[in-house]
Amino acid sequence: MTNPAVPTNQIRSTPPAAPTTPTVREAVDALRDDIRSRGNSWSEDTVDLLIHGDWDSQVTGIATAWMATAETVERAHAVGCKLLISHEPTFWNHLDRPSPDDALFWRKRELLDAFDMTVWRFHDHHHVGFDIDPVFHVLLDRLGWVDPDVPSMGVRRIAPAPLREVAEHIAVALDEPAVRVIGDPDRVIRSFAFGVHDLASCLPYVSSTDLVLIGETTEWDAFEYFRDGQLLGLSPALIEISHRALENWGSLALPEWVSTVLTDVPVVGIDVPAPFSVVRAAD
Ligand SMILES: [Fe+2]
Ligand SMILES: [Fe+2]
Repeated sequence: MTNPAVPTNQIRSTPPAAPTTPTVREAVDALRDDIRSRGNSWSEDTVDLLIHGDWDSQVTGIATAWMATAETVERAHAVGCKLLISHEPTFWNHLDRPSPDDALFWRKRELLDAFDMTVWRFHDHHHVGFDIDPVFHVLLDRLGWVDPDVPSMGVRRIAPAPLREVAEHIAVALDEPAVRVIGDPDRVIRSFAFGVHDLASCLPYVSSTDLVLIGETTEWDAFEYFRDGQLLGLSPALIEISHRALENWGSLALPEWVSTVLTDVPVVGIDVPAPFSVVRAAD
């Protein structure tokens, strides 16, 4: 209520607060606090760490990406971001600990330094920090196979189609030049499950689904298990996609969440393209 003793022409409205620019430390703390506020713990035994840069850098813009490739770093810089949130490693192994004898390690550090880029890894808690794993949910959404009654890692029914058509659909939907298929291309597929990265993760589903979809698996166990399964009639078909095809989409959608936590900072998702082309053997 206005104080009647003060003439209205002397009342000054409070100017809107200027947007605050957080430091990297403040931004990461806010994201971590939001995950905790959802009832999820933050493990200290994690790869979700500062990979490169400075906790005290000012965050004027944030880029999110599946992987901090050199191209991703350049694109983040081009759109004015100095904090890159990367799901996967920057330095090519899970713990981001390359050999100091590797010249490419130093070249990439120089690239990051040239752009004053800080990289923070968001992997473990990206998968477990929410009610459902958003990485696989967004992937399912892209494939058009979300079923609210089935958990991300369960067996789900899909419209019946030959394996060949299912494979083509996956390649197109995930913007990949190719996928690899083990199984009769004419076999009709009515259900599928995720196998993530290895044979062990496939085994719970082999007696209950027509197809297992896996990303970047070990060929000598998973591929050969499914090949033997085709001959012996015990296993479903297998479609292998790249690691990027499996997880690019979760990081591309991450700005939706980050923006709700860090409302004063522009956030952009960067699409990481497939890392390979396909050369077919001559007929
Ligand atoms: Fe992941
Ligand atoms: Fe991954």
